[in-house]
Amino acid sequence: MDFSQLAALAGGHAEARAIQTALKLGLFESVAHGRCDADALAASLKADRRAVGVLADALTALDLLAKTGKQYDLADIARRFLIKSSAEYLGDLILFDEALFETWAHLEQTIRTGAPARTPDMFQVKPDETERFIRAMDSLTRARGDATYVAERLDLSEFPIIADLGGGPGTYVAAMLRRWPHLRAAIFDLPATLEVARQIIAEREPDLAPRIDLIPLNYRKVELPGRCSAIFMSNIIHSEDEATNADLMRKCFRALNSGGIAVVKDHIMNEELTEPKAGAIFSLYLLLTTRGRDYSFSEVSGWLRGAGFIDIRLESLPSPPFTSSMVIARKP
Ligand SMILES: C[S@@+](CC[C@H](N)C(=O)[O-])C[C@H]1O[C@@H](n2cnc3c(N)ncnc32)[C@H](O)[C@@H]1O
Repeated sequence: MDFSQLAALAGGHAEARAIQTALKLGLFESVAHGRCDADALAASLKADRRAVGVLADALTALDLLAKTGKQYDLADIARRFLIKSSAEYLGDLILFDEALFETWAHLEQTIRTGAPARTPDMFQVKPDETERFIRAMDSLTRARGDATYVAERLDLSEFPIIADLGGGPGTYVAAMLRRWPHLRAAIFDLPATLEVARQIIAEREPDLAPRIDLIPLNYRKVELPGRCSAIFMSNIIHSEDEATNADLMRKCFRALNSGGIAVVKDHIMNEELTEPKAGAIFSLYLLLTTRGRDYSFSEVSGWLRGAGFIDIRLESLPSPPFTSSMVIARKP
């Protein structure tokens, strides 16, 4: 690393805030309506003309806008990921990060005490927070393409039903049901999350709704409904501590039929817990907001083996764009 790279890393919050603020103001949507100068942009955002010009120039420097003379236009990357009408819209994740910006101010305290900076409530208390969280998960998965990749990659031909534990918005099961027409799905999740899932499925996948059961449960408190043939868990273990994850794997084992599989998709870290880089950084966010962190393959496979699973294997997704892997295990 050289000086410039270090300085850019250390000041990275400024770039993040510029993008988050532009999105919150609706700047990209305004520019999407047609090339415009700072006067027109400020008028449409009902914001200060000079300040809007500074923000738009910064976004141009970041290659999210293009500027010709005084006119701004969207760069291709912004048109693809920052406009609501795009199927790859990442904005809901960016707005979720924006809402959590204050939480990062408590990182020092969290590192000193080990305690999260907010109650790890999985955003279940206020309906608007639940919706922002669950739409953020959907936005990331769709923009990056994880669900489509996983649905292609996992051979679900032998399984009549897949249970998505903590399935959130249903993005993964929707892709799996499209890929495997014989399949049914059940999403096991907390009640407030399922309300949002119901809305998202009705908005975008109404034809799949009859094939998806939404089952409210708290996996920390109850057993999973039995007779599952496959259980999928994406981005679940990283929010939980080690003991809860070991317990969760035992619950999965008890709920599965013989021959059934458990699939854990997450950042699966190297033994030093430093790679993938995205996972090491994401663990800081998890410290701030949950009881978890990202775990290594030996940690995850240890919980699975302890529960009784066999044939435990690691399947990494191609990086970039993906940053996670799947750990797949079978009940004998
Ligand atoms: C980080 S999101 C992941 C959503 C989805 N699996 C994905 O990868 O996009 C975690 C999900 O787990 C759910 N969840 C968290 N704690 C839970 C619990 N105790 N019981 C059931 N679901 C839970 C949340 O509501 C949320 O949908």
